[in-house]
Amino acid sequence: MKLCVLGLGYIGLPTAVMFAQHGLEVLGVDINENVINNLKNRTLHIEEPGLRDRFNSVIDSGRLTVSTVPTEADVYMIAVPTPITKDKKADLSYVISATESIIPFLQKDNLIILESTVPPRTTEDILVPLLSQSGYKVGVDLLVSHSPERVLPGRLFEELIENDRIVGGINEESCLKTVFLYKNFVKGNIHMTDAKTAEMVKLIENTYRDVNIALANELAVISEQLEINIWDAIKLANHHPRVHLHSPSSGVGGHCIPIDPWFLIEKAPNNSDLICLARKINDSMPFRIIEIIESTVKNINNPCITLCGISYKGNIDDIRESPTLKVYHELIKRGYSIKLHDPLVNTVFPDKFDSLENALLGSDCLVIMTDHTQYRNLNLVTFKDLFKTLNIIDTKNILNHKHLMMNGFYSIQIGTPNKNGG
Ligand SMILES: NC(=O)c1ccc[n+]([C@@H]2O[C@H](COP(=O)([O-])OP(=O)(O)OC[C@H]3O[C@@H](n4cnc5c(N)ncnc54)[C@H](O)[C@@H]3O)[C@@H](O)[C@H]2O)c1
Repeated sequence: MKLCVLGLGYIGLPTAVMFAQHGLEVLGVDINENVINNLKNRTLHIEEPGLRDRFNSVIDSGRLTVSTVPTEADVYMIAVPTPITKDKKADLSYVISATESIIPFLQKDNLIILESTVPPRTTEDILVPLLSQSGYKVGVDLLVSHSPERVLPGRLFEELIENDRIVGGINEESCLKTVFLYKNFVKGNIHMTDAKTAEMVKLIENTYRDVNIALANELAVISEQLEINIWDAIKLANHHPRVHLHSPSSGVGGHCIPIDPWFLIEKAPNNSDLICLARKINDSMPFRIIEIIESTVKNINNPCITLCGISYKGNIDDIRESPTLKVYHELIKRGYSIKLHDPLVNTVFPDKFDSLENALLGSDCLVIMTDHTQYRNLNLVTFKDLFKTLNIIDTKNILNHKHLMMNGFYSIQIGTPNKNGG
């Protein structure tokens, strides 16, 4: 069976590699020539544990080839970006152009699977009419499904195999053929439903997490006011068998959680007050961190601020929608001098330092923005001499604040009494 995967990003590339490892002949397609040229030279543009070895083995075996254009295949899988526009509407232009690009190659009995996260009804209202332009009868000659991706970057290969999967077909035959395909490697349960329910399921998952994080963020602010340590309180609350509160944060990043709830708001603007408020709370968090930074350095002349962690979460290199970038750009706009550090992010920034020592040299305030393992294991006391002023703000609750304060640091932990580590 020949599979053509459109979009070789965080989702499409590992998925293409996985199918190739399980015996399919896979063509990976990306419109970005740099991506394709790099892959042809075996240079990976994304970091994911296990990807390099797996990629090399399927290239060596000839099971994976890459190209900027699609060709004939049995199955097409679309994993292109679905961002939002400036006015917070779903930008489906990539899904539309990827679908249009396969129309000339479609043949009877092809299966088309949309993996990208999309607003409910996209498969039926947009994909199906586009595919009909091929002249084939969709649902009879062409089978179509939506199967949203739910993997966690950093654990992607384990989760591709172990997670349960949702398959929403435009009819039963589409469902069954899609399930048969994923069974090549999926060990979790595969649940069948219709396309619009599958689309909704993915949005429910990310909206649930966004609202949950917004609640944690609001409780963190309340806790500061009431002089309670929110981290201790959440840990204890989560001992309740039916409570699973997420952690407070400097905001929400990535390609999913800050984006996907807008797809529901767009579809039902008059019935999504809670979802909208959660988005507003989480989007306001970087500005709250800025407030704390500004009040910490207010008496220092030309303060230098070091932001540690650019990616939106720990141990990955993905900087999309990262709260750090919001904090960084806003502080630059306000005239501060900033140093950035991230052990995993390769993107070039004028203020980024490869060595943590250089990023800390002359710093008046270190802000832990991301919980990379390197930062968790950091004994900042050994770097004390590099600082100009011993201020630390920990948005991730990963430092030993008592130890830092005993060693002369002014240490602020978000969501704790008096912002001084409790
Ligand atoms: N990254 C995640 O953790 C994650 C998790 C679950 C779901 N998703 C969803 O999966 C989809 C893909 O996300 P991603 O993170 O892999 O995106 P990405 O930006 O990392 O990769 C998408 C790739 O698609 C390519 N592309 C764009 N238009 C194309 C076209 N017409 N033909 C071929 N290639 C094209 C781009 O050049 C890019 O390389 C999105 O809908 C996203 O919401 C992502």
